[in-house]
Amino acid sequence: MGPELDDGFTEGNVETSEWRTPPLWGIGLSANSQGGQMFLLHDGRASSIEEAIELHGGEADNSKAQYLSLTPKEKSQLIKFINSL
Ligand code: HEM
Repeated sequence: MGPELDDGFTEGNVETSEWRTPPLWGIGLSANSQGGQMFLLHDGRASSIEEAIELHGGEADNSKAQYLSLTPKEKSQLIKFINSL
């Protein structure tokens, strides 16, 4: 997932920037179970879906670039969709 999410720790033969790809279903409800705020990514550092996407790198670089190239309206439609999962 690139240098931003590389924490320098590993388990077994997993690279230090490799993380489990989490399922996104139910993500719109996560703030309800986390005191009204979202804590996303492996260490909870992202407090919004937008922030989590912007921290993608490595194999997900292309997806991040495509997200960043969307218009503000398209971005908000995508976030609305993800929140509805
Ligand atoms: C439009 C495309 C994508 C969107 C909207 C998206 C969205 C997200 C979101 C919201 C999270 C945080 C989930 C959570 O913490 O519960 C996440 C995490 C993650 N995504 Fe994506 N993602 C996309 C593409 C990709 C791609 C292409 C890859 C890999 C090739 C990827 C790999 C991951 C991984 C490994 C994590 C967990 C990282 C960590 O815990 O630090 N994602 N993604």
